Amino acid sequence: MQRLFNKRILLGVTGSVAAYKSAELVRRLRDAGAEVRVVMTEGATEFVTPLTFQALSGHPVHRHLLDAETEAAMGHISLARWADTILVAPASANFLARLAQGRADDLLSAICLAGDVPLAVAPAMNQQMWVDAATQANARALQSRGVLMFGPAAGEQACGEVGPGRMQEPEQLVQQLDEIFESGSLSGRTVVITAGPTREAIDPVRFLSNHSSGKMGYAIAAAAVEAGAKVILISGPTALPVPERVELVQVVSAQQMRDAVMARLVSAEMLIATAAVADYRPVQSATKKLKKDNESLTLELTRNPDILAEAKRHHPQVFCVGFAAETEALVEHARTKLVAKGVEMIAANLVGPSAVEARGVFGNDENALHVVWAEGELSLPLASKARLARDLVALIAERYTNWRPERAPRGKVIKLR
Ligand code: CTP
Repeated sequence: MQRLFNKRILLGVTGSVAAYKSAELVRRLRDAGAEVRVVMTEGATEFVTPLTFQALSGHPVHRHLLDAETEAAMGHISLARWADTILVAPASANFLARLAQGRADDLLSAICLAGDVPLAVAPAMNQQMWVDAATQANARALQSRGVLMFGPAAGEQACGEVGPGRMQEPEQLVQQLDEIFESGSLSGRTVVITAGPTREAIDPVRFLSNHSSGKMGYAIAAAAVEAGAKVILISGPTALPVPERVELVQVVSAQQMRDAVMARLVSAEMLIATAAVADYRPVQSATKKLKKDNESLTLELTRNPDILAEAKRHHPQVFCVGFAAETEALVEHARTKLVAKGVEMIAANLVGPSAVEARGVFGNDENALHVVWAEGELSLPLASKARLARDLVALIAERYTNWRPERAPRGKVIKLR
């Protein structure tokens, strides 16, 4: 059931005695890794309190269409845009009729109308109401418009009658919802990505840093989300918008980045280190602004931790991908780093006068990569960073599928410097 991981499910609950089962449904959806927001009709609140769904989903329940406060926070259009899929469970006979008519006079029907995502309904009603020609005509009309009909199941009903009209069990609903989504190559995986430059303080107003824009790392974060991963982006200072659904951890210095990475790797399967970590930091960072008292100033620098190498040493079960910026002998240097850092893959790119002349690298929207791993290598030709990120994520996912930590090749660890 990995396809629901990191997906946004909008659950509509309408007035039916089966509404109590939807409490369990919320729990199971969240167990499968989905984020759930609940919209209740007035009828539904007669059966179960909004507080129950609020507690189970972890979000306030949405109920009113024309409530200025609610609309300002997350109105019907934003809710419809937020969702990856909408499931109405239970869907009463009345609600199916309203949906078939395209009504928009309450919050849930307005969302269903405004949404451009798969819509599924799980009918729940008395068996006679279900077999009635009006309900059947509504169900057919909805199905012909692409609405997915989950059930109903047949059996003993709350009213004591026996027949079709029972809402499907939460387990079955979750299963069917899962099947709506295509399986992403990183479904269910947690991926930590480092990005951007780090800043090493000289004094309270000055720092050492580099030209990294963070664009490649942010593009990889977006591509990994697209592939179904839960993404934790640990980023130095950049001017980039945060990709959707990414947990952003902002850091400034290499040491902060190191601490953030180590803490997050405990529950991750993968690390993609794109950050341009400053190799050195001032031995001492002055607490007060340095004055230009002397003609010259000497800064003593000390090595920063190699985050990627340390991550691999401490978390051998994590699949690690590093980046390398080289001015020459791209493949050779990349292979040396692969072994030296003990990682599974290195994505290398050419920098320096010739490459920058050709396209610029830092801050540019295009790049090309040469990716090496122990048993092979592949060139990803010049493309937009978004395209390149998708291709790289697909390649990483493919390599990861065939990888077992205990069998991972371990070369002799050599010192780079
Ligand atoms: N890296 C890191 N921590 C550091 C330095 C680098 O995690 N202190 C990571 C980078 O995010 C990248 C890879 O290691 O994934 C780059 O390795 P590095 O040895 O720094 O390569 P270059 O930057 O190309 O440096 P050089 O060739 O000068 O050794």
